[in-house]
Parts: sequence; C-alpha cells; structure tokens
Amino acid sequence: MTTTPDASVLADRLFRPLQLGPLTLPNRVVMAPMTRTRAGEGHAPTALNAQYFEQRASGGLLLSEATQVVQVGAGGVRTPGIYSQAQIEGWRLVTKAVHAAGGRIFLQLWHAGRASHPSLNDEGLQPVAPSAIAIDDRKVFTPQGLVPYPVPRALEEHELPGIVAAFAQGAKNAIAAGFDGVEIHGANGYLIDQFLRDGSNLRTDRYGGSIENRLRLLVEITDAVVAAVGKERVGVRLSPWVAHNNMKDSNPPALFTAAAQALRGKIVYLHVIEPVAGPAKVAAPILPLLKEAFGGVVIANGGYTGETARAVLQSGAADAVAFGVPFLANPDLPERLLRNAPLNAPNPQQFFAEGPVGYTDYPRLSTL
Ligand SMILES: Cc1cc2nc3c(=O)[nH]c(=O)nc-3n(C[C@H](O)[C@H](O)[C@H](O)COP(=O)(O)O)c2cc1C
Repeated sequence: MTTTPDASVLADRLFRPLQLGPLTLPNRVVMAPMTRTRAGEGHAPTALNAQYFEQRASGGLLLSEATQVVQVGAGGVRTPGIYSQAQIEGWRLVTKAVHAAGGRIFLQLWHAGRASHPSLNDEGLQPVAPSAIAIDDRKVFTPQGLVPYPVPRALEEHELPGIVAAFAQGAKNAIAAGFDGVEIHGANGYLIDQFLRDGSNLRTDRYGGSIENRLRLLVEITDAVVAAVGKERVGVRLSPWVAHNNMKDSNPPALFTAAAQALRGKIVYLHVIEPVAGPAKVAAPILPLLKEAFGGVVIANGGYTGETARAVLQSGAADAVAFGVPFLANPDLPERLLRNAPLNAPNPQQFFAEGPVGYTDYPRLSTL
C-alpha cells in the first residue's frame, strides 16, 4: 500500500522519496543484505523466508541475503541459491509477498570464492579464488562444525568467462523470480573483492597487478549483468575498509575511487560499507570521494542510527542509508526511525540459526 506522506514526514530527509531507475522508493531506509541461513531443501527459499521479508516491506528498498550464483559459490550452510528452477520458485514466494505488501526488493548475487568449503556444496567442489591463498584469521562453519578454511584453487584465466556468465544468468533468474533488480556482491572479502585487493590477488595475468587489472572481473561481471537485465536494475556493493575474510589492500582509497569511477553511468546505484560507529569505525572516510567519482545514487551503510543517517543524507555524500542489524531486529524500522521510537535489541545467537526464533518473531511497535 502506498500512501502520500504529509509535509511533516517529507521534512525528514529519510522520508523523502528517491527515484531509482523506474522505481520510486517511498523512503531512504534500505534493508541491508543479511545472510540468515534459513533456506530450505536444495538451497531454495521457503514460506518462512517470504514472511521475514514481507514483515520488512516498509523499507524503501529491501536487499536479499547473499545468494550464490553457482554451487561452489556458497559461503555458508543453508544459504540460498539462484541457479535452479526450485530456487526461482522459492524466491517467487518472497517477491510476491513483498510486492503484495507494497515493497521493492533486489537480490544480492554472490560467489564466495575462497570463503567457502567443499562441504558447503552438493558436489564437494574445492573453493576457487584469484590466488591459492587460504583465509587464516578465522574458521568456516560447516555441517561438521567450525573447521579451517581450505587452500583454494587459483582460477585459470579461461574459467573466468564462465563465472561472468553465471552472474548474468543469476540476474536473469532473479528477474524471472520477480525481483525488481539485483545487487552484485563486490564486498566483504568474497570472490569479486578477492580479485579487487592485492592482499588476496597475486595474479600476473590480465586480472592481477595494476588496479585496472584487479578491477577487470568486477567490470566484466557488471557489464554482463547489465546486458542481461538492464542498467536500471543493477547495483554494486563495495566495502573499502572491511577486513572480514582476511581482506587487505595496500591502497584502498585509490582502488575504490577507481572502482567507483569505472562503474560511473553503468548501474543504478553504488552501495558502500564504511562503518561510522563501533569498533570498525573508519578514521578517514572516503564516501564523499566515491560519491563524486560515481556520480549517481549512493547507498551508505555501516553502524548508522536515525540521526547519523539523516546527517549523511544532509551532507550529500549519500542518497539513502542501509541498515543491517537494526532492520533485522525491527521489522517496522522505518516507522520507528520516523517517530524516534526505541528499537528492539538484536539477538546475535539467532543470526545464523534455523527456524522462526530470532527471525520472524521480533515485535512491531504496534504489538508492544
Ligand atoms: C547477520 C548478518 C548477515 C550479513 N550478511 C551479509 C550478506 O549476506 N551480504 C552482505 O553484503 N553483507 C552482509 N552483512 C553485512 C550487513 O549488510 C551490513 O553491512 C552490516 O551489518 C553493517 O550494517 P549495520 O551496522 O547497519 O548492521 C551481514 C551482517 C549481519 C549482521
């Protein structure tokens, strides 16, 4: 249901509509992509997943959790895919429920690269990466519990067109499942990010070495996804400072400004994680540089509150703000931000659990 907001609501920057290609977002409160490990049989979404997203449909835009485009791209247990007919059918439950509740939703296209394990895909395939370097600062959660990450197999150059094509096919499948668009996951130390950064990419071919070469896979995937579904339905997510999955780079500002420049005019939004609070708070933010280099709609994310979100919108460095944990724990987050109402406390024990507890049972203001 769309109702026309009154002037007092529009005076709040978070509640001014935003044009995103053909979509008019009724507010600038975006739900960040969040893995919740609750997909069903065959990595296909279920009615429970549909209920979770439907509850959050008042967000200006919802982003699905990371969704693998190929089996070997899975980076966790019970993560959903977008490569089989059953998965497309499962996602249709989600998109129908969100649209019926008046919302809009993009699917996040994912390949975990080395942040994976053979037991996370049905064929026991060895994880792949730009270079044969294992993640060694944390363990991977598998059906057998926590185990060390394996050393990945370095991809041959001739295999890369297959990965590019898998992202394009995933995008087509997402549109077939009823999504309004797709977000390419170039963040948080997964395959694309592994190619971007020189701590994980030691290649000596056209995909390694210079910044231009390390950007090549991201640009090729973006071009192929745009050719498949149209630029107005494609966003890209980047995380210049996130060290998750052992990520390191010698010069993030140069790399990520070049990435924003390379994506300029190609896609409908750029989504940037640059924490503004908490232990990961960034000392010298580059969001304004990325906004300038990209030139289009920028979504900011990382530790935002209603107050800091309004401030970043006012600064002009972002056009919308994505909320992760606050949206996970508050299905009616936009209403709470509008009214400056208290937020439910998140329950991290249930972030990556199974079933409805800590998933679809967070209360709304109206039921408190
Ligand atoms: C439970 C959980 C799962 C997440 N899964 C994903 C994911 O699938 N894809 C992604 O790009 N980021 C993922 N993130 C990162 C969030 O999208 C977001 O960047 C992070 O929570 C910081 O935003 P916040 O401070 O508003 O929570 C996840 C975060 C959490 C807490």
